[in-house]
Amino acid sequence: MQQEHLSKQLDLLALLHDVSNNHQGASIVLNQMIAGAYGQSLEEIRPFLISLQELNERVVSLIQSRKTTFFEVNPMTVTQFDMLAFLQKTYCLFNPIAQYHSLKLHYETQTLYKHGTQVRADGVSIDRMICNILTNAIKYTSRGEIFLRLLHQCDDLIIEIEDTGIGIAAEQISNIFLPLWQSPNSSNRVGMGLGLYIALSVAYAHGLDIKVNSTVGQGTKFTIIFPYKDDGIYGLDGRMLPKSQKVQDALPI
Ligand SMILES: Nc1ncnc2c1ncn2[C@@H]1O[C@H](COP(=O)(O)OP(=O)(O)OP(=O)(O)O)[C@@H](O)[C@H]1O
Ligand SMILES: [Mg+2]
Repeated sequence: MQQEHLSKQLDLLALLHDVSNNHQGASIVLNQMIAGAYGQSLEEIRPFLISLQELNERVVSLIQSRKTTFFEVNPMTVTQFDMLAFLQKTYCLFNPIAQYHSLKLHYETQTLYKHGTQVRADGVSIDRMICNILTNAIKYTSRGEIFLRLLHQCDDLIIEIEDTGIGIAAEQISNIFLPLWQSPNSSNRVGMGLGLYIALSVAYAHGLDIKVNSTVGQGTKFTIIFPYKDDGIYGLDGRMLPKSQKVQDALPI
């Protein structure tokens, strides 16, 4: 009972955490816009207005998707989407934020993917997973570059997020996914120690693997692995979808 109560509280904290992150991103874009960093005309600032609208919609989706905990996948929110386009949007959203921190963000893709780039997943949760890892890459890098990559390795689809930041000591790697854990070395940094816990929970719920490679003083690479499923779509098993379809099938039309 107490365990359940604790996990609900954590769930709520995690939601506040991600809502707040989106608002912080929006503030950065707005401040830059007010300072004239993107130009003066509507045509010049339109892409950034679209980013702001996107950030706003993300907050709405986050709040609406809270009908269920992010540890589990709600079959009603599972959709099929193209990961290439999905990450392109993420790149567009994070590019001004990286620029604000004097970092260069790159989005690198391959010309060919063995089994395509279609993914079946809860998009809002996948977004939370990627955004939290990307936010860390920016937060823990004071100078240099950040790479967002969509690759394939053997049969699997791979997302890599690599930074040239402070790195993580080998003895701390096993702690970083724990809820509310923050490195003692980064005590001067703001945050709740929830970003990676959220990312791992989403990965776990979707059957994805997350690997971390890091060298102190050189940088960190997070690798998210979408294992290949026989039906040519990565992510959740095809059996996840029919639940929502069953609702439709059950309707007496
Ligand atoms: N890319 C990274 N480079 C260096 N250290 C990292 C990186 N990502 C995570 N860490 C370390 O792992 C810890 C946990 O990360 P996590 O995202 O869960 O929390 P946070 O960033 O401290 O706070 P929050 O995400 O709640 O704002 C961080 O405090 C930091 O010490
Ligand atoms: Mg974080």
